[in-house]
Amino acid sequence: MSENTYKMAGQAVSVYYGQKRALFDVSLNIRENAVTALIGPSGCGKSTFLRTLNRMNDTIDNCRVTGTVTLDGEDVYTSGIDVVELRARVGMVFQNPNPFPKSIYENVAYGPRIHGLARHRTEFDQIVETSLQKAGLFNEVKDRLHEPGTSLSGGQQQRLCIARAIAVSPEVILMDEPCSALDPIATARVEELISDLRENYTIVMVTHSMQQAARVSERTAMFHLGHMVEENDTDTIFTNPADQRTQDYIMGRFG
Ligand SMILES: Nc1ncnc2c1ncn2[C@@H]1O[C@H](COP(=O)(O)OP(=O)(O)OP(=O)(O)O)[C@@H](O)[C@H]1O
Ligand SMILES: [Mg+2]
Repeated sequence: MSENTYKMAGQAVSVYYGQKRALFDVSLNIRENAVTALIGPSGCGKSTFLRTLNRMNDTIDNCRVTGTVTLDGEDVYTSGIDVVELRARVGMVFQNPNPFPKSIYENVAYGPRIHGLARHRTEFDQIVETSLQKAGLFNEVKDRLHEPGTSLSGGQQQRLCIARAIAVSPEVILMDEPCSALDPIATARVEELISDLRENYTIVMVTHSMQQAARVSERTAMFHLGHMVEENDTDTIFTNPADQRTQDYIMGRFG
């Protein structure tokens, strides 16, 4: 698959919370099998845009989305689309690790069970093991699969949440500040994992850390006050941004 294939695209996406407009005609192409970082000052609309990609905004009262979002060229807001299936194809990992109050094993097996991806115990065992392997967690938990997910460290819990997202074979994984609740060592571990995952998944990640965006992403999109200011190769954004607002932000002049 070519490096420049687009997996998802937002076309003139606007989002309103009641009367308040949070996004203004954002158009952004998301490259397949790459990591795209969304950066910008607090409140600029990064999470709002991220949530438009798998319709998580549907769950917020008063929230209205206009414009077009496509996955493999298909409009995800078209009526008749199965939102549960969409969210399996476009998975999400949140800021705070949020394992279900269930065992490590059940956290990972839950999605495949509700999506009917496995039938027999051995099939579930296989999916659980593979997903934990891919999330770089299996060796740490293989002897305690039936202990609660919440008994793990914060960094392990976040990798468990990534394993849970992976278990339903998503094509895209959305991550909203996935490391902000983690210490530097756990952060490094998750960053390493994100770099590994890009080979097989398309990843869109919100981050407040310039260093993190520079370390793990190929593309970076800068948001400011609900506008997508510019998008480019991460190196270009950090060394030679086109827009003054990007320059100010990466120099720490605001945000
Ligand atoms: N559920 C909501 N109801 C009303 N307004 C909201 C809601 N969620 C976000 N907003 C508003 O939309 C704008 C964009 O918020 P959003 O959370 O997308 O920003 P962000 O870039 O993710 O910020 P942060 O870096 O602080 O997470 C803000 O003005 C925010 O107050
Ligand atoms: Mg946010």
